[in-house]
Amino acid sequence: MSSISIIGTGNMARAIGALAVAGGNAVEVVGRDQSKAADLAKALGSGATVGQFGAVPSGDIVIVALRYADVVPVVTQYGDALSDKVIVDLSNPFNADADGLAVPDDTSVAQEVAKVAPAGASVVKAFNTVFGHVLEKGRRPDVFFAGDDPQAKAAVSEFISSLGLRPLDVGGLGMARWLEGTGLILMGVARHGLDDFDVALGAVEFPG
Ligand SMILES: NC(=O)c1ccc[n+]([C@@H]2O[C@H](COP(=O)([O-])OP(=O)(O)OC[C@H]3O[C@@H](n4cnc5c(N)ncnc54)[C@H](OP(=O)(O)O)[C@@H]3O)[C@@H](O)[C@H]2O)c1
Repeated sequence: MSSISIIGTGNMARAIGALAVAGGNAVEVVGRDQSKAADLAKALGSGATVGQFGAVPSGDIVIVALRYADVVPVVTQYGDALSDKVIVDLSNPFNADADGLAVPDDTSVAQEVAKVAPAGASVVKAFNTVFGHVLEKGRRPDVFFAGDDPQAKAAVSEFISSLGLRPLDVGGLGMARWLEGTGLILMGVARHGLDDFDVALGAVEFPG
């Protein structure tokens, strides 16, 4: 069991939160709008709690479920309140047409989060290659993740497994940019190749 805090009360917060409580994890919901956080915690049930925006989160893993442009400012605002936490960035920094990334060529949102994260915190990119509505429909896609800290990655991997999803480590935090690009591939295949958003990306092994 993991203890997690989710900052954000939107689609991804709801989708991951529901799986997290079903998986027996301790879940805290945090929103800048306290009433939205309370509503989500109530909807999640199973003892989900409400945290104070900006205060030290109760979870060891803090999932920042915000739009990409809000992630670095909010982590900066939290500052030392995130010391020693595993910070999960799930954002997709898409441009307006969702056919390119809105971050400079040599970085990713997750790497920018790492630059402003406090001492002892570790950043893991995860969940950005799965659609929230696919999770809410009970589908069980692979979840790619990337990070530099083996302990943080082990914690996130265990959490992903508790959701009934397969965690797939793709390497160090430098790979976060390519995971963000993989989010574009997911959008592209949904729009063009399949004309269907009930879709997920994953890895297929061919044993032998
Ligand atoms: N939806 C998906 O299927 C999906 C899939 C993969 C990745 N993602 C990524 O997941 C992230 C969240 O997506 P979403 O669909 O869950 O978004 P969403 O439903 O729009 O939720 C965004 C949340 O961010 C909060 N927020 C906005 N500005 C904030 C600020 N300055 N400080 C604090 N909180 C703020 C909003 O709070 P208020 O209600 O108070 O405005 C809301 O709770 C995005 O980066 C997206 O790229 C989404």
